[in-house]
Amino acid sequence: MASYDVIVIGGGPGGYVAAIRCAQLGLKTACVEGRDTLGGTCLNVGCIPSKALLHASHQLHEAQHNFTKMGLMGKSPSVDWKQMQAYKADVIDGNTKGIEFLFKKNKVDWIKGWGSIPAAGQVKVGDDIHDAKNIIIASGSVPSSLPGIEIDEEIVVTSTGALSLPKIPKKLAVIGAGVIGLELGSVYARLGSEVTVIEFLDVITPGMDGEIQKTFQRTLKKQGLNFIMGAAVQSVDASKTKAKVHYKLRKDDSDHSLDADVVLVATGRKPFTDGLGLDALGVEMTPRGQIKTNAHWQTNVAGIYAIGDAIEGPMLAHKAEDEGMAAAEVIAGKHGHVNYAVIPGVIYTAPEVANVGQTEEQLKAEGRAYKVGKFSFMGNGRAKANFAADGFVKILADAQTDRILGAHIMGPAAGDLIHEICVAMEFGASAQDLALTCHAHPTYSEAVREAALACGDGAIHA
Ligand code: NAI
Repeated sequence: MASYDVIVIGGGPGGYVAAIRCAQLGLKTACVEGRDTLGGTCLNVGCIPSKALLHASHQLHEAQHNFTKMGLMGKSPSVDWKQMQAYKADVIDGNTKGIEFLFKKNKVDWIKGWGSIPAAGQVKVGDDIHDAKNIIIASGSVPSSLPGIEIDEEIVVTSTGALSLPKIPKKLAVIGAGVIGLELGSVYARLGSEVTVIEFLDVITPGMDGEIQKTFQRTLKKQGLNFIMGAAVQSVDASKTKAKVHYKLRKDDSDHSLDADVVLVATGRKPFTDGLGLDALGVEMTPRGQIKTNAHWQTNVAGIYAIGDAIEGPMLAHKAEDEGMAAAEVIAGKHGHVNYAVIPGVIYTAPEVANVGQTEEQLKAEGRAYKVGKFSFMGNGRAKANFAADGFVKILADAQTDRILGAHIMGPAAGDLIHEICVAMEFGASAQDLALTCHAHPTYSEAVREAALACGDGAIHA
């Protein structure tokens, strides 16, 4: 069989980006992918299809709530679920074919099938063994359920099933107020489902800035999502058409249950490394089942690298992509680097929520002196014109040096706005640097500048 400089196992955002970068750097490269299409979870059953449903349901929300205010009269649209699913399928198709095109353009061979590593320097796919000087494992992650809950992907579903339900459920129970639960929960709430989110902790989106957590939850409640907080789900009884979620309230250990037509289990994901043969190879793993790597994405076995959800760190497509590029550069003898301190996180609800760097809670815990610059979208003309004035930009800067330490945004296009702060942080900028940068009017970005001004002598429109 063919012999390669690099074989990447997995064609998701980590793997396909690594493969393309390897090829661009002159390495003979193949990518092994067992799905019928490239793009992994993200393009097939994750980021991209969920964004299609978020977009469609947001348009419906706009039509129902804001059109008449703007003089756009007439009956508000009804939902053709089959057509919405077809639109979603088209979006997936366009994106996955795009990766296939990029592979051809960059001369990356797609080896179709599931790969394993019988020995360092070899990748087995079906009956074929391919030689590879270097192997990058980019095998991703799968949903992790809870004990006592059986997933059937029809009544009790993960994000995969939730993206392709046969019909819009009347009652949807969501277990877990993390990113998946809130994104998909808000899709179905906008499409008319009665959505109840059951969360173990007393706050939603664990790890995020506390002020954002509170404002975000209030906003989601206003949008019709119900929350049962501090509740540990114990089990789910499911029939062919309905389910009952059993949970215990942590404050008094009392037992309760909730009926639903569909239950979405969104309690996290776990690395997917089954069938790779890592045990036999002696690849070191962390206690949480992640592949252990050093600062250059090398495992303890020479010539085997790992990136993305299969290793430590946030399970985010863009983190995997960055690691993919950096690992490729290391293999090519360059100096691949990922700045883990500046990886943005985005929740694609409406309004969006985005963050980068440290939270106030982290800074307090470190005993660091910091200042806060905040600006509400209520003071942003563009947001007001677009019925999108819910939320704020919050910038945290060092009290002495003014260097930006973190930013937290809830509001329109937050997932895009966060990037000017990421770039600023990469360059070690101060809040004043941002504040002195001219921002076009009228844009949402002005809210970022105003928050930066608020770190100094004050915002203008507050
Ligand atoms: P998550 O880790 O974000 O949230 C899981 C939630 O479930 C937590 O709030 C946890 O406290 C709760 N939980 C756990 N056990 C529970 C129980 N027994 N009863 C009630 N609640 C319980 O996990 P999620 O949302 O499933 O996402 C998985 C991964 O995928 C995350 O790493 C996320 O970052 C990533 N992802 C990122 C997206 C984005 O960047 N927009 C979109 C979708 C997923």
